[in-house]
Amino acid sequence: MKAQEMFQESIENREGFWAKQAENIKWFEFPKTILSDDENGYPQWFADGKLNMSYLCIDKHIEDGFGEQVAVIYDSPVTGKQQKYTFNQLKVEVSKLAGGLLSLGLKKGDTAVVYMPMIPQTLFTMLACARIGVIHNVVFGGFAPNELVVRIDDCKPKVLITSTAGVEIAKRIPYLPLVEEAIRLAQDKVDHVIVFDRQLIDNKHEYFEGTIDYQELVDRSQPADYVSVESTHPLYLLYTSGTTGKPKGVERDTGGHATALKFSMKYHYGMEPSETFWAASDFGWAVGHSFMVYGPLINRNTTIVFEGKPVMTPDAGTFWRVISEHKVNTMFTAPTAIRAIKKEDPNGELIKKYDLSHYKKQFLAGERCDVATLDWFDEHIGIPAVDHWWQTESGSPMLGLLTYFDDFKIKRASAGKPIPGYDIKVFDENGYELDAHHEGYLVIKLPLAPGAMKGIWNDFPRFEKSYLSQFPGYYFSGDGAIKDEDGYIFVTGRVDDVINVAGHRLSTSEMEEVVSSHPEIAECAVVGIEDQLKGQIPFAVAVTKAGVTKGDTEIEKEIISLVREKIGAVASLKNVMIVNRLPKTRSGKILRKLIRTMLDGKEFQIPSTIDDEQIISEIQEKYEFYKN
Ligand code: COA
Ligand code: AMP
Repeated sequence: MKAQEMFQESIENREGFWAKQAENIKWFEFPKTILSDDENGYPQWFADGKLNMSYLCIDKHIEDGFGEQVAVIYDSPVTGKQQKYTFNQLKVEVSKLAGGLLSLGLKKGDTAVVYMPMIPQTLFTMLACARIGVIHNVVFGGFAPNELVVRIDDCKPKVLITSTAGVEIAKRIPYLPLVEEAIRLAQDKVDHVIVFDRQLIDNKHEYFEGTIDYQELVDRSQPADYVSVESTHPLYLLYTSGTTGKPKGVERDTGGHATALKFSMKYHYGMEPSETFWAASDFGWAVGHSFMVYGPLINRNTTIVFEGKPVMTPDAGTFWRVISEHKVNTMFTAPTAIRAIKKEDPNGELIKKYDLSHYKKQFLAGERCDVATLDWFDEHIGIPAVDHWWQTESGSPMLGLLTYFDDFKIKRASAGKPIPGYDIKVFDENGYELDAHHEGYLVIKLPLAPGAMKGIWNDFPRFEKSYLSQFPGYYFSGDGAIKDEDGYIFVTGRVDDVINVAGHRLSTSEMEEVVSSHPEIAECAVVGIEDQLKGQIPFAVAVTKAGVTKGDTEIEKEIISLVREKIGAVASLKNVMIVNRLPKTRSGKILRKLIRTMLDGKEFQIPSTIDDEQIISEIQEKYEFYKN
């Protein structure tokens, strides 16, 4: 069967196709019902199937005789540590931690917030939760306490599992003061806080009362067996930015996700069991969940937990060192990482130092990949670089190329073709499908493939409003796209208030809320402007209240640190320009797209609905002055 035939079958015979794919994982009870509706009338997969994710990722391989295969490699240039864990060792770590969680009274259906850095204990924690049916919510380490508070109050965890610190290049980021602050601010009271002590420095003073030591808990606990959960049991919640300030708790099922990940690993990434797969991401993002933890482990691939950056840890050759040393077969990262390496090592001198003979394919996603970066990659690495598109919401690729089939063809700047199960179309604003080469909205006919979000945690109306109401019968992705005559799709970027900064998904509305909370600010707009390294960066344009005498530079500094304090360093807001007025429509809507296009230095059209055209030249003049 070829890729196109497979796609066709997945659309024409959905249930038959996915029932066959579901046979590739081991169920405790194979589903009799393949596709049905949930209590909200939304499609769900494999409703009466039973399985366990931790079993699939660990025990299954041990039963099959692969207990001594290396499952996880921890490589941390920032601490100089390396450690390998076989599947047998992984089982000990995970089952004892799971036993520890049970001893604290956790049970299936409870939630756990995980705020941890790039260390293997994070992966153990996720798998330990999955083992006993506890729903985890991993929070990215670059987020501030406030982001933790939002998640704690929304998912009401019984336990918060954290570590003493993260390490950003040479900087230690203490987590405990941030956790203490979050717990103080949250309305919901977490029962237990478990802390993994990395022993980087003597930091006893950072501890607060009542914490439980991770290692002591593991050491004193009995290993817990896996429990059988329903296919629709939530494996995890992962909060992501939307068009309002409040992040959305994407709810992932177990059975559909396991089936989709097994499918992706085999057909999209073309991985054979026992090979090494490396996704250079972070546990806090969907890529980290799907392709650092569950995907590779389900497929019996060795996965790498890399604690470092593409550059400066210690140099721009670090990716090639890891690939060479651990015989990485296939790698996944965001284009930003390649751009960062290209900037530091334009002639690829550091690449020549390493034996990359095992390195066969590179996958890129998270943001648009520019052709110049692909050219550099081709010139210096010369293996296929496959762009592909997906979202936290889908949990696995929706556009890409099935590299399992040798005849896959890359088209520059395209994120590929629809992946089986995703009937993707490009619509105009009235819901009519557009012809090739016309830009429109990227939408997907329902039902989505297995593993795509079950909904927004405890908020079906918001799920409906955010994704299902714009085009009835279709899921609206929030992205724009163009299709070509061969069915390749070119993703043109978000059409909402979401921006992608260095592959990190952030909400401009959330930033606007923080900027507007500054006592001197009357109103503001935050837009994503183009950036050579990070793809996009946020830029705030703000109007001060009448009578404010404080200088612009001082206000800018205060706002930058406010955003850092409220959202986190990852927000990367470095520019705040104070203006007299914002361009608006006659009905008072801020013309954000116009501001963005102006700041990008691109040609723009003045909307006929603009209230006062004069504002445009005011802002342009101010920007010329601001830039210098
Ligand atoms: N914990 C604490 N702080 C973090 C953090 C974490 N896990 N991750 C990032 N930050 C901080 C950074 O230290 C930086 O702080 P600073 O403003 O004090 O310097 C800030 O957040 C912005 O981080 P980032 O956008 O990552 O910029 P950077 O300049 O540190 O690094 C790259 C730029 C390109 C090297 C980096 O973004 C990268 O490796 N990107 C790869 C893409 C990726 O991993 N994408 C994930 C989805 S696939
Ligand atoms: P996240 O949910 O963090 O994975 O971010 C998803 C968003 O990232 C998508 O909606 C796109 O805007 C963007 N994105 C992901 N992959 C690509 C890609 N290959 N090309 C263009 N944009 C992408």
